[in-house]
Amino acid sequence: MADAVAEVLPAGVDVIDVGCGTGLISGMLTARGHRVTGVDVSVPMLTRAREQRRIAVGVVADAAALDLPTCDAVVAVNVLHVHPAPDAVLSEVGELMRPGGVAVLVWPTDRVSIGRLFQVERQLGRSWGGAVRAAVLRGIVAVPGILARVPHHSDATLAAAVDRSALEVVASRDLHEVQRLVLVRRAG
Ligand SMILES: C[S@@+](CC[C@H](N)C(=O)[O-])C[C@H]1O[C@@H](n2cnc3c(N)ncnc32)[C@H](O)[C@@H]1O
Repeated sequence: MADAVAEVLPAGVDVIDVGCGTGLISGMLTARGHRVTGVDVSVPMLTRAREQRRIAVGVVADAAALDLPTCDAVVAVNVLHVHPAPDAVLSEVGELMRPGGVAVLVWPTDRVSIGRLFQVERQLGRSWGGAVRAAVLRGIVAVPGILARVPHHSDATLAAAVDRSALEVVASRDLHEVQRLVLVRRAG
């Protein structure tokens, strides 16, 4: 998925990774020559991203309240679906982008089973054991959010939020039927 994100970004532009977590996507983009500012509400996540040199700069902030300089590209991967106010995040993403800038939004399509995740990992070339480990790990990672009743907005809800935002959809596709990738730009 990180490859799919990187492929649609213009080469060499500075990127803001909203909800960067430990910087898995940021790290891929940094390795490809982007200068990445990572934003996350979690200090431990950002600390790990910095320690791993996956981001150039780390900013602790809510995705719906970003007070940052504008940039050419924004990515928001697997954060919109858990944010209480995805419309507000999309509005902030729009504000962050310079005119002509782009943003890559990725979210999971509706609840995906561990079995399906296993199949995808196999399609991506993982060994049988590696695919089991990756799929189970993803399942375990989801448990605290379920217990804490973190919201999980559906694919349709997020697609509708993008439609009513000021962002213009350039392309939308699903990744192995488990995630949606939407490329948007700021018109003007
Ligand atoms: C599923 S992880 C995705 C991390 C990373 N984008 C990736 O794909 O590997 C979701 C991230 O969103 C962050 N997050 C959750 N709520 C947030 C909020 N209100 N503002 C900013 N980040 C938030 C979490 O701390 C977590 O790091």
